[in-house]
Amino acid sequence: MTVVPTLTYGRITIRPLRLRDARDLDFALTSNRGWLRTWEATSPSGHASTDVRGSIRALQANARSGLGLPFAMELDGRFVGQLNVSGITYGSLASASIGYWVVQSAAGNNVTPTAVALAVDYCFRTVGIHRIEICIRPENAPSLRVVEKLGFRYEGLRRRYIHINGDWRDHFCFALVAEEVREGVLDRWVKGAVPPGAGSVPEWARAEAAQRILPGRPG
Ligand SMILES: CC(C)(COP(=O)(O)OP(=O)(O)OC[C@H]1O[C@@H](n2cnc3c(N)ncnc32)[C@H](O)[C@@H]1OP(=O)(O)O)[C@@H](O)C(=O)NCCC(=O)NCCS
Repeated sequence: MTVVPTLTYGRITIRPLRLRDARDLDFALTSNRGWLRTWEATSPSGHASTDVRGSIRALQANARSGLGLPFAMELDGRFVGQLNVSGITYGSLASASIGYWVVQSAAGNNVTPTAVALAVDYCFRTVGIHRIEICIRPENAPSLRVVEKLGFRYEGLRRRYIHINGDWRDHFCFALVAEEVREGVLDRWVKGAVPPGAGSVPEWARAEAAQRILPGRPG
């Protein structure tokens, strides 16, 4: 089991997602349908679950097995979104992925980059994870800004990688390994020490992504 900590920087806190968040989570998801749909993971079988308590329980069970860290994100003490560290592996790979969303009313307050920085520093320093990746649809400009701010390194294009909004979607993959951010992801960012261009997608990669070489629904 890996402990899910409570961590704060300024107005932003990440803390363990709890069953008593179910009502806030349900309200946030329902009232932000249009805002989230384009970027939301879906089931290839077409089955859509609306069991919010069940999904929190599943994330908590995953955390008890040491496979994930389910966080709630707060701005000024108010629930505004979720950040999940998932797919944790140990040993020679020691790796994990991060996914996130915030409600539309909280967007643009640096909630997500701050939350990602806090979570990644914890994973590198306390959990012993060596590499963390974030995968983003090429069309998702706000999310690309999150990794750009923190200087996640562009690694490549994964064709039809995750089932999002009803189809398999291409994703850009970004990563950090512990030794490239020894000073900490949060410290490096708030001190303005992210190397210029470190988190941006090269022009040739954008051109590659624009070529549709495999079948699938656009958008
Ligand atoms: C992507 C997302 C998580 C970013 O979270 P955030 O906490 O707003 O992050 P930031 O505050 O750093 O804002 C990132 C960029 O979003 C854009 N942005 C700011 N306010 C916005 C708003 N009200 N609406 C849309 N985009 C906005 C800006 O370009 C901003 O970059 P800037 O700070 O350089 O101006 C959020 O937009 C979101 O939840 N989107 C829907 C779900 C999603 O895309 N999840 C990620 C899947 S990979």
